[in-house]
Amino acid sequence: MGKVTLPLLKAAKGKEKISMVTCYDFTFAKLVEKAGIETILVGDSLGNVIKGQPTTIGVENWEVAYHVKAVRKGAPTPFLVADMPFGSYQTSIEKGMENAIELMKAGAEAVKVEGGEEVAQLISKLVSFGIPVVAHVGLTPQYINKFGSFSKRGKTKEEREFIKRSAKIVEEAGADMIVLESVPDKLAAEITEELEIPTIGIGAGNRTDGQVLVIYDLLGMDRDFNPSFLKKYCDLDNMISKALKEYLKDVKDAKK
Ligand code: KIV
Repeated sequence: MGKVTLPLLKAAKGKEKISMVTCYDFTFAKLVEKAGIETILVGDSLGNVIKGQPTTIGVENWEVAYHVKAVRKGAPTPFLVADMPFGSYQTSIEKGMENAIELMKAGAEAVKVEGGEEVAQLISKLVSFGIPVVAHVGLTPQYINKFGSFSKRGKTKEEREFIKRSAKIVEEAGADMIVLESVPDKLAAEITEELEIPTIGIGAGNRTDGQVLVIYDLLGMDRDFNPSFLKKYCDLDNMISKALKEYLKDVKDAKK
């Protein structure tokens, strides 16, 4: 696979599905590269899976940049998107620009921001300076304190209209791709049809232009995490636990 670029991804809409996984370190990045996955997201989900926090709110921009550098080393080929964490773009356009630039200098090729109308101006500014933007609507984890849970969005007509309008606004502002998280399949399909930019779904059915999953989730690293949309492609929780127990036994059983 040759270097994956934004124009290639945008041209794939309607022709070929786009694969995306999250990734946070060099070792996993090498495996993602070898597998031929086209897009990597260094997600602020690192707050959950790396830092062990209940939400993504505590993630800092420098932490995302740190992980971007490691992932970039292991995976030069995929298009690399860096999440802008909570607090890195909410206070001013200038602060958003500065933090996005830090992530681009670390090796990202695009940044991702959550929201609709409230991020439209920032998106326009970023893209005007050559920083591609992936938008993110539906379940937006940085809004956890407003919604109180990570449950599915778009349950009411009003909410569905809001999500659709937000998707349209961020496209008009210049977003290059958009993540649709935990929204009804039908709504995701409609947005995919109406937008010109590729849609990447998670918990949004299979009628989006691509799919994203948190890498540890798809590898089955946590037997206790089982959202209905998640297909586990292996059972690393069991495999790793077994391997560690065997190692423990070997160490204990070794003769002096
Ligand atoms: O941070 C993240 O991993 C994400 C994906 C779940 C889309 O935003």
